[in-house]
Amino acid sequence: MFNVIFKRGLATEVKAAAPRLKTFKIYRWSPDTPAEKPRLQEYKVDLNQCGPMVLDALIKIKNEQDPTLTFRRSCREGICGSCAMNIGGRNTLACLCRIDQNENKQTKIYPLPHMYIVRDLVPDLTHFYKQYKSIQPYLQREKVPEDGKENLQSIADRKKLDGLYECILCACCSTSCPSYWWNQEQYLGPAVLMQAYRWLIDSRDEASGIRKQMLQNSMSLYRCHTIMNCTRTCPKGLNPGRAIAEIKKALAMD
Ligand code: SF4
Ligand code: SF4
Ligand code: FES
Repeated sequence: MFNVIFKRGLATEVKAAAPRLKTFKIYRWSPDTPAEKPRLQEYKVDLNQCGPMVLDALIKIKNEQDPTLTFRRSCREGICGSCAMNIGGRNTLACLCRIDQNENKQTKIYPLPHMYIVRDLVPDLTHFYKQYKSIQPYLQREKVPEDGKENLQSIADRKKLDGLYECILCACCSTSCPSYWWNQEQYLGPAVLMQAYRWLIDSRDEASGIRKQMLQNSMSLYRCHTIMNCTRTCPKGLNPGRAIAEIKKALAMD
């Protein structure tokens, strides 16, 4: 194949780089044909014609080869949490995951593990969001602020929320946790527990007693066995395992 380039008014033909075809094997399942077993479908993408991230490859496949391939995405910069999936054996965000440039190595892509699947790479997060709602993730207080306007917080107290508020609820951590796989109905899982901790230690919140009470049972929190898969996989570099350990400490001191 030849491309035409223009240099100092002269059209010159230069040879385009040879295609670098990489194989992606992608999990497919459709609710329209529920009797058909899930399968891996193979697609080849020319890395010379593709952006650097796995999400770029998925969008290219959908646009140019197979419009039926289904996945979630929105921001393409690690903010919305929509594109969480299992890439090369690891839960991560497709938009933050670089394509392995070795063309001889196939890349396998599955939806987040141990979840019900809506279609292809789209997991059903209904239960996950229900669990998030259950921890009452909002400021609760009776007292009116002194100035009648704002609930002020010291710089030191605000700092305590660092490493917690940045969570984008992508569910990569919860779906990498063996305890969550087996006890999903009752165990809240690392993502939701980290948010429970975020509200527990917010100096402006006055509901810490009730918040702790809600976690004081054998399933919601104590199914965590500190395996730390959650922290290893978090694509935002957060540490839900530590947050869970801190809740356990706070409950033990009560
Ligand atoms: S540390 Fe707890 S929450 Fe994290 S993966 Fe292990 S068991 Fe799950
Ligand atoms: S802690 Fe990390 S992996 Fe877990 S939901 Fe938040 S951003 Fe995603
Ligand atoms: S598309 Fe928003 S986090 Fe990947």
